[in-house]
Amino acid sequence: MTDTPSPVLIESDGPVTIVTLNRPDKRNAMNAALITAMIETLESLRADERCRVVVITGAGPAFCAGMDLNEFFGQEDRTAASRERVIQNASEWRYRLLRHFPKPTIAMVNGGCFGGGFSLVECCDLAIANREARFGLSEINFRHIPAGPVSKSMASILRPRDALLLALTGRPFDGAHAERIGLVNEAVPAEQLLAHTLALAHEIAGKDAAALRLTKESYRYAAEMGWDASLAFTAAKSYELLARQVNGESRDAAVLDFRAGRLKPGASE
Ligand code: ACO
Repeated sequence: MTDTPSPVLIESDGPVTIVTLNRPDKRNAMNAALITAMIETLESLRADERCRVVVITGAGPAFCAGMDLNEFFGQEDRTAASRERVIQNASEWRYRLLRHFPKPTIAMVNGGCFGGGFSLVECCDLAIANREARFGLSEINFRHIPAGPVSKSMASILRPRDALLLALTGRPFDGAHAERIGLVNEAVPAEQLLAHTLALAHEIAGKDAAALRLTKESYRYAAEMGWDASLAFTAAKSYELLARQVNGESRDAAVLDFRAGRLKPGASE
C-alpha cells in the first residue's frame, strides 16, 4: 500500500517558510484536501514564532491550475447546502485567511497559473513569477465566470481595462506580461526564481515583526476604508505598536534613539 502524498509541503529556510502546493500530477488544482491542508498549514504558521515570512509555490511544472474542475463542477450528487459549504470554504481561506494572514506572504509563481490560482497570487502580499510562466483567466473558455474571490481579486489589483480584457477573452499570457500589468511585482528567469524570491523574503524577515504585521493590517484595511476612518485606524495601530515592547523596552525608546541619531532604520546592517 502506498501512502497518499501530503497535498501541501512545508519547508523552512531560517525565518522563511516555503509552503508548496503538492498535487503536481493535477497541476496543483485546488481540491478539498489541498484546501483543508492549506488552512491547517496557515493556522499552524500563524502561531509559529520561527516563521516570519511565508512563500507559497507549486510542485512540478505548474503553480496552480485553479479549482479542481472534477471536484468542484462534477459533484451533482452533493446536496446544495454541502456544495455551498465546500465552495465557501474554497474562497474563504484565500480572501480572508491568506489575505489577512498576520505575516507577509509572497507568491512564487513557478509555472502555470489559471482561474482560482489568480486569487492565490493576489491574496499574497507580493508575487514573483517565472518569466515563462503561463497565466490565464480561462473560465470564459468553458462558459464559466471568474467565480469565488477571483473577480474581486482582479478588480483589486488590475486596471479595469486589463482585468476585463483578460476575463472576457481568456487569453493566456506570460510572467513578463503579468509584471507589466502589475499582477506580480517582478518576473525573472526560471533559474533565478527561488534565489530571487528568497532574497526578498529574507530582506522582509529581517524587519521588526510587529511593525510588519501592523503595516500589512494598516494597508489592507485602509484600502477598504474612507480617509477619516483610515486615519483613525492607522492612528490606533501606531499607538498599538508603541505600546508593544521591543526587547523589554518601550518602542518610544526606539523613536527617541532615532531622533537622537542613534538608530538608522534605513541604513544597511
Ligand atoms: N482541475 C482538475 N484537474 C486538472 C486541472 C484542473 N483545474 N488542471 C489540470 N488538471 C489535470 C489534468 O486533467 C491532467 O490529469 P490526468 O493526467 O489525470 O489526465 C493533469 O492535471 C495534467 O494536465 P495536462 O493538461 O496534461 O498538463 P499540461 O502541463 O499539459 O498543462 C495546464 C497544464 C496548462 C495547467 C492545463 O492542465 C490546463 O489548462 N488546465 C486547466 C486550467 C484551468 O483552466 N483552470 C481554471 C479552472 S476554473 C477555476 O479555477 C474557477
